[in-house]
Amino acid sequence: MTEDDQRHLLVDLARSLFARGLSVGSAGNISLRLADGYLITPTNSSLGRLDPARLSRLDAEFRHVGGDPPSKEVFMHRAFYLTRPEAGAVVHLHSTMATAVACLPDVDAANPIPPLTPYFVMRVGRQMPVVRYFRPGDPAMEPAIAEGARDARAVLLANHGPVVSGRTLTDAVYAAEELEEAAKLFLILRRGEHRLLTPPQVEDLLANFG
Ligand code: 13P
Repeated sequence: MTEDDQRHLLVDLARSLFARGLSVGSAGNISLRLADGYLITPTNSSLGRLDPARLSRLDAEFRHVGGDPPSKEVFMHRAFYLTRPEAGAVVHLHSTMATAVACLPDVDAANPIPPLTPYFVMRVGRQMPVVRYFRPGDPAMEPAIAEGARDARAVLLANHGPVVSGRTLTDAVYAAEELEEAAKLFLILRRGEHRLLTPPQVEDLLANFG
């Protein structure tokens, strides 16, 4: 895919997320890895109205080299790219259900959403830790996210929202969408009886689709 194709894909997927309410206002940011750097959404931009030509371009050292000023969360994305060499894109949202789970005091911080459905396991993986609260834009978040990203494709930022990586931008967006649905199911089911996927079922999914 050319850089131009990547720019248009990012804008199209961002608009789709915004249209479905997974991002509101100017919340959220999206990045992808290029051969010689990164593209990331500009700070204070609405995911519903991005301009492909004005996306922020970063060089391989994450320095701003083109387009509008980048998201204040560049370091959040960098934590994933530097920790997970296979990550080709990162999506950060304030999507309601995942953020609701990120506000619960009584979940397992190592893995707050259990394996309820195959597509959650296939897209997001075996685990997704909660990273303690930091102010948005606080660079102190980077090492905490990097630590969480060592063994997970996604993390939940306490009281803030999900950060999800994927091999491609489409993978990362699909994973963020599955995460939002799994969070919704978890919130619906958590006070009542429900069945989880068994550990062998989870391993079978990861062996075949992981
Ligand atoms: P930016 O507008 O700087 O990308 O920040 C939005 C956001 O979601 C902060 O977490």
